[in-house]
Amino acid sequence: MEELEELVNRAKSEIAGADTLERLRQLEVAYLGRKGKVTSVLRSVGHLPPEQRPAAGRTANRLRAELAEAFNARGEQLQLGAASRACGRREVDVTLPGTAVKPGRTHPLMRVWRDVEAIFIGMGFDVVEGNEVETDYFNFTALNVPKDHPARDMQDSFYLADDIVLRTQTSPVQVRMMRELAPRLPVRLVHPGKTYRRGDDDYTHSPMFHQMECLYVDKGIGLQHLKGVLLEFARRFHGPETQIRLRPSYFPFTEPSAEVDVTCAWCHGEGCRICKGTGWIEILGAGLVHPNVLRHGGYDPDEVTGFAFGMGLDRQAQLRYGIDNVRLLFLNDWRMLQQV
Ligand code: PHE
Repeated sequence: MEELEELVNRAKSEIAGADTLERLRQLEVAYLGRKGKVTSVLRSVGHLPPEQRPAAGRTANRLRAELAEAFNARGEQLQLGAASRACGRREVDVTLPGTAVKPGRTHPLMRVWRDVEAIFIGMGFDVVEGNEVETDYFNFTALNVPKDHPARDMQDSFYLADDIVLRTQTSPVQVRMMRELAPRLPVRLVHPGKTYRRGDDDYTHSPMFHQMECLYVDKGIGLQHLKGVLLEFARRFHGPETQIRLRPSYFPFTEPSAEVDVTCAWCHGEGCRICKGTGWIEILGAGLVHPNVLRHGGYDPDEVTGFAFGMGLDRQAQLRYGIDNVRLLFLNDWRMLQQV
């Protein structure tokens, strides 16, 4: 045991003197390796008379553990030293730019969605839910477009089954919500969401796009209310100077119907690339709710009237951020998203 103790002390002072990790590893092999000095002394414990073995074994193990610990501690010291020397010699160039963190942000379309929603909430409208997969009934029939009606050709549809369609417009929420609310008044709601149409996939069309439906039903609602709400929206969203105009149009579910333009937010009506020189940009279809639609919703058209409109949200985003290709909104290329 004395011999072992002496050996361990010698090892410890050599460990303290080891100034490289390599030297330290050599010492470790020399003392604790399979043929190491300490290892062979430990083995000799087995040759002691049986009554001495337990005590000798315990002491030997303790010394061995102490030595192993000394190797570890010195190893850590040397490693730290090597790292800080490397910094001192500028092997680590602390002036190099770090790895940039690219934080996520709200998609331009979602910003528009929320802003539009907030404006209508501010005017007293409720935001309601709807279904992207609709029955033929709510998407067409309840909106005064019976089967075989030529107006079905206005909107090429994706059918999922005989009477199930990916909604071509957000308008099906009109009758769905009226049925839920009737006979309560007023019905005053908006519903933003995805819509789907077959056909062109080009700079101005995408088979999936976004609309926001608006419906206001109450006693005595007329075109003046529609115009007032639209003008208020246009001014809050596009700026206080914005003007609107209503052009006569046709939708089976409104009568009369109109298409609504706003003055171009880019050129303020003077005519530019975005508005194709006209100074106006079409943003939505609107009208007074057709009596048949009110009936499908459970309201009596002799007692109540209403207005409705469906606004293209992608259009609004394109206008606000000057994006001429609608598909850029859905590709999620961060080079585009970064700019807007
Ligand atoms: N649903 C019509 C469309 O998609 C827009 C619209 C909604 C028109 C409500 C009138 C009333 O084109």
